[in-house]
Amino acid sequence: MKIAVIIGTRPEIIKISPVIRRLENSSLDYKVIHTGQHYSSNMDKIFFDELELKEPDYNLHVGSGSHAEETGRMIIETERVLKAVKPNLVLVLGDTNTALAGALSAVKLRIKIGHIEAGLRCYDKNTPEEVNRVVVDHVSDYLFAPTDKAVKNLLSESIKEKNIFLTGNTIVDAVYENSKIADIKSSILKILNLKNNEYFLVTAHREENIDFKEKFGGILEGLKLLADSFSTPIVYPIHPRAEKNIKKFDLKIPDGVLLTPPLGYLDFLKLLFNSRLVLTDSGGVQEEACILKIPCVTLRDSTERPETLNVGSNLLVGTNPDKIIEGVNNMIKRKPDWGNPFGDGKAGERIVDVIRSLEVNI
Ligand code: UD1
Ligand code: UDP
Repeated sequence: MKIAVIIGTRPEIIKISPVIRRLENSSLDYKVIHTGQHYSSNMDKIFFDELELKEPDYNLHVGSGSHAEETGRMIIETERVLKAVKPNLVLVLGDTNTALAGALSAVKLRIKIGHIEAGLRCYDKNTPEEVNRVVVDHVSDYLFAPTDKAVKNLLSESIKEKNIFLTGNTIVDAVYENSKIADIKSSILKILNLKNNEYFLVTAHREENIDFKEKFGGILEGLKLLADSFSTPIVYPIHPRAEKNIKKFDLKIPDGVLLTPPLGYLDFLKLLFNSRLVLTDSGGVQEEACILKIPCVTLRDSTERPETLNVGSNLLVGTNPDKIIEGVNNMIKRKPDWGNPFGDGKAGERIVDVIRSLEVNI
């Protein structure tokens, strides 16, 4: 059996790393195809280096564009490479345009598809990720669902039970594999002159927030209120989409907010697990905060990670400044005694075991 693993963005590189490690130690033949959706060194190469992943076998260098341009180019280029590689199975992860393009190219070539992180739903089609994840789930043959809730979502959409595998989320594997290394290797606290538990961490990059002046402005106003009421530094490693839009909308970064370029995984993990609280619109960061027992305030109106709300590690506040500060005041009082609903850190192993068991049928 030959497998093609298709990735293209920062979170995909991080979350696929535990699977690649298991594939590497198996006898399975696999190739990595990178669409090039992310390409800046601090959104791409740094993760291959830190996570000790070999270079992708193919890089399609698709780069940025509108959804149609980006996805269209990826479908064309992925099809070309899949025709040359001739895999029996394509693996995609999550809900990016890369995952969508990889799955659409594969299904039309009648190649079986495994979807890692299947079954997540926020039921809001204003987020491009929701559209992508629904389509990818419905063209996939093997659905690797991280939680019971994700399994239920898939069953409720008439996806056959025999095709669904409850594996846990590979982000748990990645956090477990890298936290200790981050603690030893990263000097980010010293570099930024921060003290353990005496700063807030922020990430905000989602299109539905950042591409709208009023919403992005609301988040920044919320950070201003936060800086005014706590005399605690606020660190914001800024995603290139957000950086571009700050300039475009002529928004002001409030005093007390320390901007940094996007950080490598080890620095980011170290910043996260030493922070007092994280404010974010990221999917992966909501999960990591829950796993690491850091209170999380989510700057969105919906989440496809409701498990975090249920265990009490996370609160949805949207982008209204008053709601943001209210959410922080509420979460900061919470005792971080919640359980981790995302699995035991063996998702990568389970996924590769399932793939091995499929070998005879594909
Ligand atoms: C994508 C995903 C999103 C995910 C995020 C992870 C989709 C629809 N969205 O959003 O779900 O949360 O990745 O970070 O797939 N840019 C650079 N350098 C890069 C990459 C992007 O400068 O390496 C800039 C470009 O100006 C680009 C913009 O960021 O236009 C947005 O990049 P894009 O990949 O289209 O979407 P993300 O916002 O990164
Ligand atoms: N991350 C990182 N450096 C940063 C910000 C985030 O390494 O400066 C990591 C974070 O730990 C998580 C992943 O990137 O594992 C989340 O990616 P992102 O927020 O870009 O995408 P999403 O999860 O929202 O799709």
